[in-house]
Amino acid sequence: MTHSDLAAIVLAAGQGTRMRSRRPKVAHPLAGRPLLGHVLDTLDALGAGRRVVVVGPDMPEVQAIAAPAPTVEQAERLGTAHATLQARPALDDPPGTVLILYGDTPLIRPDTLRAMVDARAEAALVVLGFRAADPTGYGRLVTGADGGLDAIVEHKDASEAQRAITLCNSGVMAVDGRLLFPLLERVGNDNAKGEYYLTDIVALARADGHRCAVVEGNEAEMLGINDRAQLAAAERVVQDRLRAAAMAGGVTMTDPASVFLSMDTRFGQDVSVGPFCVFGPGVTLGDDVEIKGFCHFEGCEVAAGAVLGPYARLRPAAIVGEGAHIGNFVEVKKATVEAGAKVNHLTYIGDARVGAKANVGAGTITCNYDGFGKYHTDIGAGAFIGSNSALVAPVKIGDGAIIGAGSAITKDVPADALALTRAPQTTKERWAAMFRTHMKRLTGKG
Ligand code: UD1
Ligand code: MG
Repeated sequence: MTHSDLAAIVLAAGQGTRMRSRRPKVAHPLAGRPLLGHVLDTLDALGAGRRVVVVGPDMPEVQAIAAPAPTVEQAERLGTAHATLQARPALDDPPGTVLILYGDTPLIRPDTLRAMVDARAEAALVVLGFRAADPTGYGRLVTGADGGLDAIVEHKDASEAQRAITLCNSGVMAVDGRLLFPLLERVGNDNAKGEYYLTDIVALARADGHRCAVVEGNEAEMLGINDRAQLAAAERVVQDRLRAAAMAGGVTMTDPASVFLSMDTRFGQDVSVGPFCVFGPGVTLGDDVEIKGFCHFEGCEVAAGAVLGPYARLRPAAIVGEGAHIGNFVEVKKATVEAGAKVNHLTYIGDARVGAKANVGAGTITCNYDGFGKYHTDIGAGAFIGSNSALVAPVKIGDGAIIGAGSAITKDVPADALALTRAPQTTKERWAAMFRTHMKRLTGKG
């Protein structure tokens, strides 16, 4: 459902100095999705279709993540009220409720925001608060006798008594669309930081007689990312959520804590995942897929009943067909392994097709690259590739063909043919024994 009466402004102008990164902070990934993407996904789930992202100067990467949402630039970092005000041209007819969120606070759930939007029925302005274990640095929520919110006082500007308040500002607000920009225009910067504080609009709204309210959320959801340690802490939270969702959806995990997922990992039913597996972005798995331990997948699609690993690696554009087997130390990249095919040991399949029910022996390599271009290998249905073969692309192995072990195949092989390139075997009876006798006599050793 989309709320036509709801819009969101996402503040993402900070570079994130403490990340010590060349990338803007909100572009850093969490479970394979940029921080800002998490916030936008939450807004999708809430149904807030209209949104504006406030970015800093020269942040094309952030603009690309925000798209198709419009971005506005905050040229100078003068504070959160100033940042929010920049959204005005993109939101000249604000809807009933405008949500203001931070791009670096990715763990807030849609239900929490929904509770705020609902609370707007009774208040002109709703702030998302939380009880902080350590409130240092946060804005404190000053509530009145009626339980309403009277003001937010920033830590640096707070008195001793106000600093004793543990109810803190998460930064998220839901504001009456008619009031937001006029209130922001009245905010000054006469405070400890010399910044235009978004939080000042609470006292201004109260002075005008509007009711302000607090919705309390869970501190864990409010985690803001300022440095790499917080990024790792948020990753743990997101991974736990993703693992729980996967198991709730019918996936068996032997050791969930050692399995790493992406926001877009898609599992069929009755998939089983062994320990120490990593699912990068863009992985889709069909029903009954069995994944043994120590696998690494990204950008790949696996059909029902396939068996993978242990130690299998599927790279982008790998497609594994129904019931196919990909075994230990096998890497598949930009290749289709069709239904029932087996690639079980120590093999590289890149830029290739492995036909249905083909059997690729241990140590087979598709030699797809000559230092300049990439070339295709086509292995027909039911073909049998002997162990330790090099298939030098471009090359085509016909349906049902057999390649002798240890061959380097450079020419196409017709269907049902045998091809082998190894030198004929020479056997010299007794040669080894004679050699040893000779060497012992010569060296006096052994
Ligand atoms: C802010 C709140 C504080 C709250 C805390 C929660 C204000 C004045 N204070 O403080 O009450 O407890 O968040 O974490 O709002 N930003 C811009 N442009 C600016 C300034 C900030 O886009 O000019 C963005 C930042 O990139 C960041 C967010 O706004 O995502 C918050 O700014 P930050 O400087 O971290 O505010 P805090 O001092 O933490
Ligand atoms: Mg902050």
